[in-house]
Amino acid sequence: MTTLITRRARAALIVTAAIVTAACSAPEEVTETASIDGAYNTALDMKQIMALVLEPASDILWDSGGWVVDASGYEELYPTTDDGWAYVRAQAAIVVESGNMLALPGRAMDNDAWMIYSQGLSEAGMLAMESAAAQNKEDFFQAGAQLYSVCTACHQAYNPDILNRFDEEAN
Ligand code: HEC
Repeated sequence: MTTLITRRARAALIVTAAIVTAACSAPEEVTETASIDGAYNTALDMKQIMALVLEPASDILWDSGGWVVDASGYEELYPTTDDGWAYVRAQAAIVVESGNMLALPGRAMDNDAWMIYSQGLSEAGMLAMESAAAQNKEDFFQAGAQLYSVCTACHQAYNPDILNRFDEEAN
């Protein structure tokens, strides 16, 4: 898996190099390259993607799995209706696509580990979608745990300060 992704990342670098070379030798291709880059609107910065898109969707997933014991007793958090499961499945879809958002040119911090974490996000989101569709509580819970470990791993690698804050919020 790691080898595959690295190979793909290398391929992307080669493509980029080819575009740059083409742009240098043929001025008319510059416009074409620019319009390809311009196809992505990356106006939202990383903080906004995290706080406005990814975290709200993930919080709903985490709040919809497992059990809590409080003053009123034991409470199961899982959805109890088809609509409830459909709703968490939709949140999981946001997580899947967030993986792609993070990997966009202009957002991706590198072509290596960043891409692996981004893909890990999409994979955990897919598991959450599938288990929500099957209304499989155990798998849904596992998907949430896997998702959490991807968030943590990427923050650890790229922004350890966020990791501390993030853990404080979770506690
Ligand atoms: C591919 C890497 C990556 C993944 C995966 C990732 N994050 Fe982040 N996250 C970052 C980076 C980088 C920042 C710091 C952004 C900045 O401050 O400019 C950040 C910041 C944050 C912040 C702070 C935003 C703010 O307002 O300062 C929150 C909250 C957050 N991430 C939540 C999450 C959650 C929840 C997940 C998993 C569901 C997740 N992140 C997965 C890279 C990642």
